[in-house]
Amino acid sequence: MKSYIVGNWKLNFTVGEASIYLHKLQKNLPNYRDIEVIIAPSTIALQPLSLQIDRHKMKLGAQNAFYRDYGAFTGETAFSQLRGIVDYCIVGHSERRYIFREDDKMVAKKVAAAVRNKITPILCIGETESERAFGETADVIRDQLIGGLSEVADDDLEKVIIAYEPIWAISSTKSAKLASPDEIAEVVSLIRKILGDTYGKKLAEEVPILFGGSVNSSNAGAYLTVPGVNGLLVGGASLILSEFTDIIEVAKRVKS
Ligand code: PGA
Repeated sequence: MKSYIVGNWKLNFTVGEASIYLHKLQKNLPNYRDIEVIIAPSTIALQPLSLQIDRHKMKLGAQNAFYRDYGAFTGETAFSQLRGIVDYCIVGHSERRYIFREDDKMVAKKVAAAVRNKITPILCIGETESERAFGETADVIRDQLIGGLSEVADDDLEKVIIAYEPIWAISSTKSAKLASPDEIAEVVSLIRKILGDTYGKKLAEEVPILFGGSVNSSNAGAYLTVPGVNGLLVGGASLILSEFTDIIEVAKRVKS
């Protein structure tokens, strides 16, 4: 399986800044066949960057989109409008869940809309610090995973990527902590078990599972070698070109 390195730029960079970053990243980056590099800028930058991006080297992802294809939904951008522009879309990021109140039902519709529009959803799941403290991690993971995939046909599961992002490890969380490789391994194996019990073992092994939460070039190697982890979802560190480039290099070293 390929390794996935996703840069989630969140609400950062003007279109011009995004374009300059992309230009420099493409210049530095060889064509790594076994590493899928994905950058996820703000929606407004997607269309211009889609004209600039060298798809042999990297792909574009959206950070969010709406599940209806058209209609009276002021301010939204549809997956159908992003079709052909992006290859991936982050869905159910904790910032969408907690700041914009997206629940599992909404997330499920978005996952299905992405698949319907030939965009690979990167479904984010993860527990809060207090859920972990109360021993609820497994239940939260199960609910978000089963809930988020509930509108996808079993045959389409292979078109989905899962990202485990414990909210307490995300760098913008107050007093964020680093997740240990053991903590990640435990949840990733739980995710595969739930997928296996629900959809069968073969499919469960084929779904890429990424880790995200304060990833940088110093810890990327440790996280990428956690059993069952197929890539990284990088926030803050992806805004620094040299850091993001180094993370991709680490992924390349781990792969070979
Ligand atoms: P972080 O963000 O790498 O800054 O912790 C990850 C994310 O929120 O996707």
